Amino acid sequence: MAEIIIVRDQAEAGSLAASIIIGKISSNPATVLGLATGSTPLSTYAAVAQAVRDHRIDVSGVRGFALDEYLGVPPQHPESYRSVITREVVEPLGLNPDQVFTPRGTGEHIGQAGAEYEALIAGAGGIDLQILGIGSNGHIAFNEPGSSLASPTRIKALAEQTRRDNARFFGNPDEVPTHCITQGLGTILRARQLVLLAFGANKAQAVAAALEGPVSSVVPGSVVQQHPHATVIIDEEAASTL
Ligand code: GLP
Repeated sequence: MAEIIIVRDQAEAGSLAASIIIGKISSNPATVLGLATGSTPLSTYAAVAQAVRDHRIDVSGVRGFALDEYLGVPPQHPESYRSVITREVVEPLGLNPDQVFTPRGTGEHIGQAGAEYEALIAGAGGIDLQILGIGSNGHIAFNEPGSSLASPTRIKALAEQTRRDNARFFGNPDEVPTHCITQGLGTILRARQLVLLAFGANKAQAVAAALEGPVSSVVPGSVVQQHPHATVIIDEEAASTL
C-alpha cells in the first residue's frame, strides 16, 4: 500500500517531494532520477533548484530519464518533452544535459526506440526514484487506460482526453500529436521508489480510482498499489473523493 500524504498546497508538496529527492542524492550522488513532465512536478523541481542554489545539494553526478516523448515531434520543438525537461529540470537544477535522457520520438527505425530506451535505463543501473504525475483519466507517463501492467517503453496512441488536456501547449488542438513513446507500467514498477503527485479537483477521480480501486489496466495509475515503496503526495482537492 502506498503511503498517502495530504498537503495544503503545491508549495508544501514540492518541498516534501524535494526533500525525498535531496535525501536520495545525499546518500547516493549518482542517483538516477525518473523525470515527469506536466505542471504537477514544477514545485518539486523549483524546490530542488533552490536547494542547489543554496549549496545544500550537489547534483553533478545525478542522471535522469524522462518518462515519455511525443512521437514525430523533433527534440528542438519547444513543446517536445526533451525541450520541456531541458527548460524545467536540466537548466534550473544545473544537471549535466548529457546525463539526462528522453525517449527518441523521431528518426529511423522508430519501432526500436522503446527497446533502446529500456537498454539505456538498464545500463544506468535502473531508476532509483521516479517522480510521477497522473492524468485526469488515470494515465501515468503516457500509459493510457488499457496499458498492460507489465508493459515496457513503447509507442502508444494518445487518448482523446489527453490530447484535449495537452492542447494548451500547442497553438492548435489539431497539432497535438496522436502518438507518443512512453516508459511502460512495467518500466515504472521497476523503479526502486515512486513519488506520485496530484493537485486539484480535476485529479480527484483519477486519484481515488488509482488508490482505492482495483489494480487494473483500466486505471494505469493503480499500479502504485503494487509498488513496495510508493509515496503519494496530494492536496485536499485531489484527495476530496478518497
Ligand atoms: C502528461 C504527461 C504525464 C503527466 C500528465 C499530467 O500528459 N505525459 O507524465 O503526469 O500528463 O499533467 P499535469 O501535471 O500537467 O496535470
